[in-house]
Amino acid sequence: MAPSESRKRILTGVRPTGALHLGHYVGALENWIRLQREYECFFLIADYQVSDYADDFQRVRDSIFEVALDWLAVGLDPEGSHFLIESGVPEHAELTQWLSWWVPLGMLERNPTLKAEMADLELRHSVPVAFFNYPMMQVANILMPKAHLVPVGEDQLPHIELTREVARRFNRIFERDVFPEPEPLIGRIPRLVGTDGDAKMSKSKNNAIFLGDDAETVMLKVRSMYTDPTRLRATDPGHVEGNPVFMYHDAFNPNLDEVNDLKERYVLGKVGDVEVKTKLAAALNTFLAPIREKRAYYEAHPNLVREALMAGTTHARTVAQATMLEVRDAMRINYLG
Ligand code: TRP
Repeated sequence: MAPSESRKRILTGVRPTGALHLGHYVGALENWIRLQREYECFFLIADYQVSDYADDFQRVRDSIFEVALDWLAVGLDPEGSHFLIESGVPEHAELTQWLSWWVPLGMLERNPTLKAEMADLELRHSVPVAFFNYPMMQVANILMPKAHLVPVGEDQLPHIELTREVARRFNRIFERDVFPEPEPLIGRIPRLVGTDGDAKMSKSKNNAIFLGDDAETVMLKVRSMYTDPTRLRATDPGHVEGNPVFMYHDAFNPNLDEVNDLKERYVLGKVGDVEVKTKLAAALNTFLAPIREKRAYYEAHPNLVREALMAGTTHARTVAQATMLEVRDAMRINYLG
């Protein structure tokens, strides 16, 4: 894109926990793809948020590559957008540290997403200090390029609210309009259920269909999907509401006549799970085929993936350095001139 950028900015991101799945797609990615021309986009891989594997950086490294591969596969365009690795812009760490001074502990303690994640983490081991402060790093990520819009999954809303609060505080304390207050944007399906019927599709719960899964794997995963537990025989009237198989049909099958026909017959006990699932697997495979193909292309050309990350990170760093000059200037901590 032209150096004289006038588009409003998006910053959004994911943690590098591995390949992306259908939940990421309908919860966020779809918005990113749709908005990437209208906005100047910064797509961030949050590798300071190493989470559970701070002792396994090879896994982080592999995951960064997987995420970038999926982004390219779904059609995010590194020519017009910036793919960046968080730790390649260490200014994030500096800004996090400064901004953390204006946030009381209680504000983080009350953050419902952080609270739930910490409760979960505590079951397995103690909570690292950096984990507690990760929402502040996310605030720094968003404020660094002065983003106007943050398209994310619904669980991220408390972090965007925190970002707005911190932006207001900074601008008020230093009496300058350094940071805009960013708006969140939630995806078409804020929380896609897992194949096991669990409330959320997630790699760690082993209930995910990945964007890179091959046709056979998709078929097997769909075949073992949780459906209506009250329905024992194909002739029993079934429930469509809250049934993961139909939720996926609604989300991914563009053939509305087929979906409506299946639903009608399902509630009457006139269709078996096998047919409903076979048609779902076919719809998913039609949806995933072009993504899979592009993914294979980039997998065979890993230099393109690395170049996208390199170019985006380099650009993001120049943007970050400009913001940090302004921040230091506003704070009057440019002691050395
Ligand atoms: N915390 C987000 C997640 O777990 C990832 C993330 C990091 C992010 N920094 C961000 C999302 C900035 C949006 C904006 O999915």
